[in-house]
Order: sequence, then C-alpha cells, then structure tokens
Amino acid sequence: MRVLVTGGCGYIGSVVAESLLTAGHEVVVYDSLVTGHRNAVPEAAVFVRGDLADAEALEDLFSRYDFDAVMHFAAFIQAGESMEKPGLYFQNNVCNSLRLIEKVAQRGVKRFVFSSTAAVYGEPKDGLISEDDPLAPANTYGETKLMIERMLHWYGEIYGLRYAALRYFNAAGAAGARGEDHLPETHLIPLVLQVPLGKREHIRIYGSDYPTPDGTCIRDYIHIADLASAHLLALEALAERPNLTYNLGNGKGYSVREVIDVAREVTGHPVPAVEVPRRPGDAPVLVASSERIIRELGWQPRYPALVDIVRSAWAWHSAHPNGYED
Ligand SMILES: NC(=O)c1ccc[n+]([C@@H]2O[C@H](COP(=O)([O-])OP(=O)(O)OC[C@H]3O[C@@H](n4cnc5c(N)ncnc54)[C@H](O)[C@@H]3O)[C@@H](O)[C@H]2O)c1
Repeated sequence: MRVLVTGGCGYIGSVVAESLLTAGHEVVVYDSLVTGHRNAVPEAAVFVRGDLADAEALEDLFSRYDFDAVMHFAAFIQAGESMEKPGLYFQNNVCNSLRLIEKVAQRGVKRFVFSSTAAVYGEPKDGLISEDDPLAPANTYGETKLMIERMLHWYGEIYGLRYAALRYFNAAGAAGARGEDHLPETHLIPLVLQVPLGKREHIRIYGSDYPTPDGTCIRDYIHIADLASAHLLALEALAERPNLTYNLGNGKGYSVREVIDVAREVTGHPVPAVEVPRRPGDAPVLVASSERIIRELGWQPRYPALVDIVRSAWAWHSAHPNGYED
C-alpha cells in the first residue's frame, strides 16, 4: 500500500513509518516540522514538508500521490498546554484534521488510522480502562481527540471511510535509530533519563500521597515497537472491518517510583528524586485493558516489561544525548 504518514517526523510517526517500510509499504511523510525532526524520517520514505493548515499544499500532495491509506499522527500533544491555549489545540488538532479527513473523503481514500489517546476517558472508577468506559476528557487535548474520533465516525457513515482509532496510553522506549525527542519533554521516562545524562539534577515526583501502594501515580507504558505493530495490524484489519477502536497499553501499571527505580537499575546512576505537591488533574491510576485488540487482531506486545522499555530508551538517549540535534 502507499501510506501517507502525517507527523512522520515525530516520535511515534517516524517509528511506524519505518515499520511500514519494513513490511513492504510505500511511505510518504507529510510534516511541518513544528515539533518534529527531519532526520527522524526513514531514508526510504518520501518526505514532503507541509502544514495540514495549508490547503494548497495538501491539495498538491493528494494530486501528486494516490494513497491507499492515511496514518494521522500530526497533532499538538501536551495536555497541560492545551489547558492554557485551547485555541491552539482546537485549531491544529481539530480544524487541521478536518481538512485532512475531508480531503481523504474527496479522494476516496478508504483507510484511516488515527492516533487517539487515553485522555479521551474520564477519571476511571476502578480497575482497567476498557473501550466502553465513559468518554469524558479532563483536558482540551483529550477533547480534541474525541472530536476527531466523532468526525471519523460520521465520515465512515456518510462516505464509507474505514478508520481505526487507536487510543494510546504512554508511548515509551526506542526502536533502533529512533527515540523520543520532544521539546519541551513532558513524559516521565525521558525526563528521568535526563538526570543520568547530566541535563537535570533531579526528577520531581508530583504527589506522594495518592491512594496507591507507594503513594505515587500509576501509569501504563507501552513500548513504541508494540505500538507500531498494532498500527500495522489495524491497517490490515480495515480490509475486513469498517471501524475499529482500540486501547493500546500494557494492561499493567507502574508507579512513578517504580519508573525511577528501574531507571536507577538500568543506568547505574542514583537519580535523585524530590517530592513536590500533586499537580491538578493527575488521576491516581490510568491503566488500559488492551484485551480487545489482543482478542480481535491477535496483537502480542513483545516488550511489556518496564525494564525492557527503559533499557531501550536509555540505549537511544545515551547514544543521542542531544536527541536528533536539529
Ligand atoms: N507520545 C505519547 O505518549 C502519545 C500518547 C497518546 C497519543 N499520542 C498521539 O500520538 C501522535 C504522535 O505523538 P508523538 O509523541 O509522536 O508527537 P510528536 O510531537 O513527536 O509528533 C507530532 C508530529 O506532528 C507534526 N505536526 C504537528 N502539527 C502539524 C501540522 N499542522 N501539519 C503537519 N505536521 C504537524 C510535528 O512536527 C511532529 O513531527 C499525536 O497525535 C499524539 O496526540 C501520543
């Protein structure tokens, strides 16, 4: 298939682009580089620099290439920022996705794989979050993703667009030459690893009085290579099924303290930690049930162990202490 990968200069898009190429697909990456890195794009992919906001550039892209499928990663991704600048998020995530989806429908592209998020759920009562849990985003970032899911539903109904909404929990780790390089970085594992890299003196623990075994928040980390394999399965499955919605997580949570302990073990660095008050809006526990994609598509996460995730992240960060350096 010829697959358009929006946001293919970013962390997840670049890894999935590489997996698509390995599986024998053709890849065209479309990215404005607003937060991404040109040298994250696999060599065998075509790179087109452009913004989803640019209607002319998008028209030009779709007239130059006939796509069999679109994988849509391009977005702004910081939940905290989305509560300070909601307009930025509605504009880039919702309006620009609408422009893309409209183009996809006009051109008759039938498969669309969308990067959704755990942030579409409200605060869970107890246990693992399943796809049928209430949708009640606690921030505008999650709201934008839910709005895009709803748009996809209607484009499916009206134009027959086949779509997969993949709700990722915390993507983590590295895959070969590609790793996590966000600016600013807001994700726990790369932040912890900045300490042994000498880029920060300590890691902050926001809240140590949560109702969890060690008092710190528990999150679900999914290895980037396992995320990538789920994208390929979803792309294939759309041939048989018109729409898919799946959680992508580990089914197992790790506390902030556990992540720090594993980082100490993997890096051999003491990684000093400082406890500070809770941040508003942090749920105590967010863990996915990915049972549906395991059952329906036979997805098998290969790296569920936190130590493997942190080890792969550390291998990448210690080899690329300044990230992609562009
Ligand atoms: N990283 C995570 O843990 C996580 C968790 C849940 C969901 N997601 C979703 O996965 C997707 C990818 O996340 P990521 O961590 O790789 O983010 P990222 O910031 O590394 O990548 C996003 C890419 O999109 C590009 N982009 C943004 N707006 C654009 C526009 N208007 N036009 C063209 N390109 C544009 C950026 O330049 C960047 O290369 C996002 O949609 C995000 O919401 C990520």
